[in-house]
Amino acid sequence: MTDPIDELESQATRDLAAIANAQDLEQFRIQYMGSKGLLKQLMTQLKSVPPDQKPLFGKRANELRGKIESLFEQRKGELGSSTTPKSKSPTLDITEPGLPPRLGRTHVITQTLDELNEVFGRMGFDVATGPEVEDDYHNFVALNIPEQHPARDPLDNFYLKHPAGDSKQGGNHLLRSQTSTIQIRVMETTAPPIRIIAPGRVYRPDEHDATHTSMFHQIEGLYVDRNVTMADLKTTLIQFAHAYFGPEAEIRLRPSFFPFTEPSAELDIKMRVKDTWDWVELGGCGMVDPNVFEAVGYDPEEWTGFAFGLGVERIAMRKYGITDIRWLFENDVRFLRQF
Ligand code: DAH
Repeated sequence: MTDPIDELESQATRDLAAIANAQDLEQFRIQYMGSKGLLKQLMTQLKSVPPDQKPLFGKRANELRGKIESLFEQRKGELGSSTTPKSKSPTLDITEPGLPPRLGRTHVITQTLDELNEVFGRMGFDVATGPEVEDDYHNFVALNIPEQHPARDPLDNFYLKHPAGDSKQGGNHLLRSQTSTIQIRVMETTAPPIRIIAPGRVYRPDEHDATHTSMFHQIEGLYVDRNVTMADLKTTLIQFAHAYFGPEAEIRLRPSFFPFTEPSAELDIKMRVKDTWDWVELGGCGMVDPNVFEAVGYDPEEWTGFAFGLGVERIAMRKYGITDIRWLFENDVRFLRQF
């Protein structure tokens, strides 16, 4: 008959060597060292051992328990922490707190465009759009910008080598440099009266710095009806300024020149810049030039109108105190999250 103590010892040594992870190790602990484990059972055999062998049996059984305990601790150390399973397959701890998903948000320029659409919408302006790849005719010719005008300089525009589609007007194509193109497109297809705004991207090959990027946004306005005057333009701009920047906002029109308006003006708005109130230039405006009406087939004797074009980044930067336009397009979520 084999000795039960020797047998348990070799069985325990074999089992321990085969253990590969903390779960198996815990299983071993229960099986051998638990309150109903094999070591306990060995002690119950002491009753049936002949009296003269009892002291030796008891001593050897105690020694075995000490040995198994120290082998167990040793194996546990080899396997690392008893709570971290060493198995190769990844395990899922469903009690760990999860990572909250980060919510995205509307880009600050899109928010600004939405707000502007809303403010002008309340004043009865519909939203119109036009293509970003434009032809020479809509970007310049119909807007009364003659052939030799410096605004057409190739250094100031993104002309395209391969025009998208054929131009019936025979001109070059370019990425539009102003949303005024949409005035032409709307008037070509719509009979007056007209009351639209046209938000969109425009492109100019400017060096990037704190106030310039080669793509930015404008919002164009066009109002055509009988007997429209400069007073209507100014009233509309005042109402816009009050609705968007608050009732204390003031506007001022400075005489200027644009080929497609006569007279023309630069629009400034007095707003809070840091701690003081200051005049900030937001864009241009004026009364639609009769040549523009003729280009789209409106009778300039019958129809009158005003137009304006504002810089959207400028509006957003002033509103939120953003001092570098490039931040708007670098897609750094730490910046974008603030709005
Ligand atoms: N298109 C002009 C620009 O980009 C801005 C502008 C000025 C638009 C006067 C207008 C206007 O509609 O009437 O500089």
